[in-house]
Amino acid sequence: MRHQVCIIGGGPSGLLLALLLHRAGVDAVVLERRSRDYVLSRIRAGVLEQGLCDILRKAGVGARLDAEGFVHDGTLLVAHGRRLRVDFQETTGKTVTIYGQTEVTRDLYAELDRIGAKVIHEAEEVAIQDADTEAPYVLFTLNGEEKRVDCDYVAGCDGFHGVSRRTIPERLRQQFEHVYPFGWLGILSRTRPLQDELVYAGHERGFALCSMRNARLSRHYLQVPLTDTVEEWTDEAFWAELRRRLPPDLAEVLEIGPSIEKSIAPLRSFISEPMSWGRLFLAGDASHIVPPTGAKGLNLAASDVWYLSQALIARYAGEESLLRDYSAKALARVWKASRFSWAMTRLLHSFPAEGPFLARMQAAELEHLADSHAAQTSLAENYVGLPY
Ligand code: APR
Ligand code: PHB
Repeated sequence: MRHQVCIIGGGPSGLLLALLLHRAGVDAVVLERRSRDYVLSRIRAGVLEQGLCDILRKAGVGARLDAEGFVHDGTLLVAHGRRLRVDFQETTGKTVTIYGQTEVTRDLYAELDRIGAKVIHEAEEVAIQDADTEAPYVLFTLNGEEKRVDCDYVAGCDGFHGVSRRTIPERLRQQFEHVYPFGWLGILSRTRPLQDELVYAGHERGFALCSMRNARLSRHYLQVPLTDTVEEWTDEAFWAELRRRLPPDLAEVLEIGPSIEKSIAPLRSFISEPMSWGRLFLAGDASHIVPPTGAKGLNLAASDVWYLSQALIARYAGEESLLRDYSAKALARVWKASRFSWAMTRLLHSFPAEGPFLARMQAAELEHLADSHAAQTSLAENYVGLPY
């Protein structure tokens, strides 16, 4: 089969890219390793920057987002004896929208189905060939049968564990990584969210985050040692620890209930440069991973996909410069969002191995945040999303 663009990976990056290209008349096919049900079963953060919301609306999949999303004007930071609401609206004039990533993926699938876009699931053994030539192609197997896609360009949207990044010769790749000495234990429960907005809590026992999916579905997290296992954490133990890390007045009103999902995820910062090689272009987690503290994973995938979609559309209209500039342009925003995610993680988590000095630095930074409108504006600018 032949398509103008072969997209590897049917997560948010791949699906959004496919839709934006189809909207512009560029023919794309998506090769996804897993089943659709599996992709839709993933529980992922859902804090959408205004830029991502605008792209989803442009792509014609903003209706449910606008109907069901929760617009947040700010967030609460409680740590080191300080309590500070950062007002996004007042400092930046922007907001974020809470709308589960799974729902974004569901909306993208529905629209791609409606327009008859080609998304091939359970595509196995995907191998990108001749990406550094003018005639790349992709091999894969489907139900045990070998298949081939000839294309002009390959978009690597297959996440951190995908094949695309590794297709770029190691000698040409420079990888930057920082692994954090803890993980996040996350719980999903059919309980009322702690507050109308998210609560980020820094405590000497560890970080906690109280988030939500809707008015009756809460998503809470605890910083835990990397050696912890989910089995060790009963629901009772989780709720008791979360209460310890919240101020008494919030702990008192926290609604608890049985978990419907519980998992532990490690935290890392990772960036691989460049984001392109020949006719292969990486987007999203295939090229970079951020710690979830700044809620940037999905939003960085969105800006990559926006830049790449506009570059490919321009290419088919005869303008190649955007494709040449894609990697540098995407990485510029990736590095700034990675810095913010790293800084928020450093500010709010406990790092016992680093001794009391860091704890005092964290307290001083929160004092400065509380005293400085400029500092709050800077945090808010990063949280709502830096310009594309
Ligand atoms: N062949 C085909 N598909 C693959 C392969 C492969 N070799 N390897 C991985 N995939 C698929 C995965 O099954 C997954 O559905 O690629 C998709 C990658 O999706 P994500 O990992 O979600 O990455 P991305 O689409 O870039 O979205 C980034 O989603 O994972 C979160 O935290 C992340 O919020 C961020 C956003
Ligand atoms: C979530 O709701 O899963 C979430 C929200 C904000 C974050 C991380 C995760 O910073």
